[in-house]
Amino acid sequence: ATHKLFLLPGDGIGPEVMAEVEKVAAFLTESGQARFEIEKGLVGGCAYDAHGQAISDADMARAQAADAVILAAVGGPKWDDVPYEVRPEAGLLRLRKDMALFANLRPAICYPALASSSSLKPEVIEGLDILIVRELTGGVYFGEPKQIIDLGNGQKRGIDTQVYDTFEIERIARVAFELARQRGNRVTSSEKRNVMKSGVLWNQTVTALHKRDYADVKLDHMLADALGMQLVRWPKQFDVIVTDNLFGDMLSDVAAMLTGSLGMLPSASLGETDVKTGTRKALYEPVHGSAPDIAGKGIANPIAMIASLAMALRYSFHKPDLAARIEAAISAVLDQGMRTADIAAKGEATVSTSAMGDAIVAEIRKA
Ligand code: NAI
Ligand code: MG
Repeated sequence: ATHKLFLLPGDGIGPEVMAEVEKVAAFLTESGQARFEIEKGLVGGCAYDAHGQAISDADMARAQAADAVILAAVGGPKWDDVPYEVRPEAGLLRLRKDMALFANLRPAICYPALASSSSLKPEVIEGLDILIVRELTGGVYFGEPKQIIDLGNGQKRGIDTQVYDTFEIERIARVAFELARQRGNRVTSSEKRNVMKSGVLWNQTVTALHKRDYADVKLDHMLADALGMQLVRWPKQFDVIVTDNLFGDMLSDVAAMLTGSLGMLPSASLGETDVKTGTRKALYEPVHGSAPDIAGKGIANPIAMIASLAMALRYSFHKPDLAARIEAAISAVLDQGMRTADIAAKGEATVSTSAMGDAIVAEIRKA
């Protein structure tokens, strides 16, 4: 099968790191390991410059028609003062909203070669491989009422509302259980049922779904604050963590920092599976932003971006072996001591974005 990729390089270092994904995709196509058909579009500040919108309707339609969208990053100081509705992030938000991407996957993996450069003790993170599954379209970021009320006595009241319906909890939990079956077969569900009604419902719904459809997966529950502590104390106790939008936002950022640089971390956002075709909308992107401070210098780390392509192979294209081959190539070049500036120790030699991409391709070729 041909995999239709829609690439959105975006702003800042986006085009620089995306060029390395194109290298890897071209090699996989040439060597017959996967067949990609690639289209490119504009999102973020560059799209605003081109046509005054953060993403055009035409590019939005191409994103919807693709098998997977791969986005680098948007934004930068150049667009700080553009109108709110067309700011760079609006392009990203529209993609998430129009494609109904409700499941955000954030892996935290520790590559052995970098275990000693973390701020944590090496034994705490060596071999770490966890996956946080965050609900992305519901909860307190979207619930109504959402407003600031003037109380008239010099006081105002800010209101956000945490709302979750059973179908929303079920579908995100289903994603977590399905993913756990492909990994360590364990799910930890997290909420605050001790103080939140939505947490009680979350807990009950996940428990019932587990009993009904996923009894083979090991499930436990942990309050979100305790989970935050455990993530820092002994993260290797987890396999898949499933949680709501707000807790997932915070906990995935904490987990990200366990393993070091932003330049290493990929993510995926998935929509519902279409029952007719068996396919699902998906957007893959690095966790990092457009890094304007280093843009144009050719020194950005392309690993998060390349690892995002590996995630697409695993979750959209059912090629886990090829995904693993890319990840092994990343690990191998790190073992050889290749470092972009962001992951280099003081005094260590560094390589360019493109040299890092070349080295990863060379490793995939060897495998
Ligand atoms: P950032 O992630 O762009 O950069 C934070 C720091 O990490 C910077 O020092 C940067 O040089 C470094 N860094 C990030 N990615 C790197 C890579 N691949 N290789 C080497 N070093 C890397 O976050 P920041 O500075 O807060 O935001 C910069 C711009 O990016 C803003 O306009 C922001 O709105 C946007 N942004 C976009 C995101 C997206 O497109 N999903 C996410 C986060 C920020
Ligand atoms: Mg966040």
